[in-house]
Amino acid sequence: MESKNESWGSRTGLILAMAGNAVGLGNFLRFPVQAVQNGGGAFIIPYLVCFVLMGIPLLFTEWSIGRFGGRTGNHSTPYILDSMGKSSLWKYIGVFGIFTNIAVVAYYTYIESWTFIYVIHTLIGTFTGMSKEEVSNFFMQYVQLDGADFGISYLPALVYLLVLGVNIYILSTGLGGIEKVAKVGMPLLILFGAVLAFKGWTMGDDYASDAFPSANAWEGINFLWTPQYSSLLDPKVWLAAAGQIFFTLSVGMGSIQCYASYIKKNEDIALNSLASGFTNEFVEIVLGSAIVIPIAAGFLGLDWVIANAGFGMAFQTMPYLFQQWGEVFGMIAGLCWFGLLFFAGITSSLAMGTPWMGFMQDEFGWGKVKGALSFGIIALIMGLPTILFYQYGYFDEYDYWAGTVSLVVFALLETILFVWVFGMNKAWEELNHGADIKIPLAYKWIMKYVTPLLLILVLSAALFTPEANDWSGALSGLVAGEGWDFDSGSLVSKVTQDDLKQLLLEDAQNEAFYLKKIFFSSMARIQLITLFLVIVGIVWYSGVKRKSRLHE
Ligand code: TRP
Repeated sequence: MESKNESWGSRTGLILAMAGNAVGLGNFLRFPVQAVQNGGGAFIIPYLVCFVLMGIPLLFTEWSIGRFGGRTGNHSTPYILDSMGKSSLWKYIGVFGIFTNIAVVAYYTYIESWTFIYVIHTLIGTFTGMSKEEVSNFFMQYVQLDGADFGISYLPALVYLLVLGVNIYILSTGLGGIEKVAKVGMPLLILFGAVLAFKGWTMGDDYASDAFPSANAWEGINFLWTPQYSSLLDPKVWLAAAGQIFFTLSVGMGSIQCYASYIKKNEDIALNSLASGFTNEFVEIVLGSAIVIPIAAGFLGLDWVIANAGFGMAFQTMPYLFQQWGEVFGMIAGLCWFGLLFFAGITSSLAMGTPWMGFMQDEFGWGKVKGALSFGIIALIMGLPTILFYQYGYFDEYDYWAGTVSLVVFALLETILFVWVFGMNKAWEELNHGADIKIPLAYKWIMKYVTPLLLILVLSAALFTPEANDWSGALSGLVAGEGWDFDSGSLVSKVTQDDLKQLLLEDAQNEAFYLKKIFFSSMARIQLITLFLVIVGIVWYSGVKRKSRLHE
């Protein structure tokens, strides 16, 4: 990010960095949980359809937008979008492409720091001899900051600082550093994943026990991979699938556009974007589904997994289960698992730093060190409350607004800009410029009509999700004049906090807790909105500076 024409060192480096951006905690922690919660095999068809009809077109769009921007010296979405559309509004829509990254990095680096401390704990044998409950409590105490881990009660905050510091250091070395980390981290990650996946595939019912007589890893695999057609009409499953595709491919975020803006102007993007996208899907579908679910099912049985599937599984159960493989292999498995998560995390969190740094370099001439440090400070300000108030849902609030809703909104707007305002013919030319493959012409049509339409559908379905996800019931109710009751998971209920208010009513005993939750969720929103507005302010100011430069 030092000079205006800095670019990636090699094609392999570019693909690995882009794959590293996409392959992240989402592939190993989010995907398996989403799949199980949405009916296993019922999830997979909507997921693949979303990949083909939204994921790939958005990759094409973002790589094209990015390389286009780089050609005119713009490396983050505010001015890239500005140079593609006439209205000055696009500049402010581009704010999403910086905002999302900063908001997500704040909590993402926190999870990354858990994986780091778990590597250490595995190495020093902390989990050896612990019971299932002890391992699980260990995690709960850690995130509630009352674990006094290593005798330090604010250890999670310290480890967070350390991991954020590592990110800042690497970012300060620029694209070269990012490329190096990806070149080491990605192959290691695949190696570690392969070791664990091999175990997942081969353990079968070897580890069934008196407590869990029907435990069988294959039941986990079959559950994920036996397609079920019944769910094809369930909007909830489609929403979850679309959300997962966005998060895992890093589309709708601004980080792909930024990475792509450092591609040389005649270099291929058609094949490269597919290569990195398919690498992500390989890691997600093959490795991501072969580890947590089968291994947990192999020890605890599928019923237990379905009842307990959640984000904590990776930390709350894996260290215990690995122990059952004996001391030595147990430790190897632990190192593979948390090491893999760490590499997956860091190659993604690095990507989140680049849009801000690129913007400050382009507009204010900030060097890499200043860019990386300032990014770190903002991430810290955003991140500390998510650590301190984790149990009151601060973290979840960020994940919902910045890590889920923003992506779809931004993806829809940039798609409209690219295929409708910039124009599909120009867009197609841009995508195919320097292309090493011939993209099927059908994609021209998909990108122009199908993708935007699906994005609108996804967004509306999320906004207006009816009570209990019962669409047909709600529609007939509406026709009968009974109105429309929103589900507590709908965007509308989230905005009004009706979801939390409902919980407060239902569980009067925990009134104090829910009142706190409502309070902290409002605080988190205020913080997110403030961040957005601050970036709007900076973008506005950069516009003033650009104008005055023109008049000089
Ligand atoms: N795709 C990453 C994952 O699967 C997450 C990610 C990468 C991301 N870059 C991002 C999220 C930028 C938000 C913003 O874990």
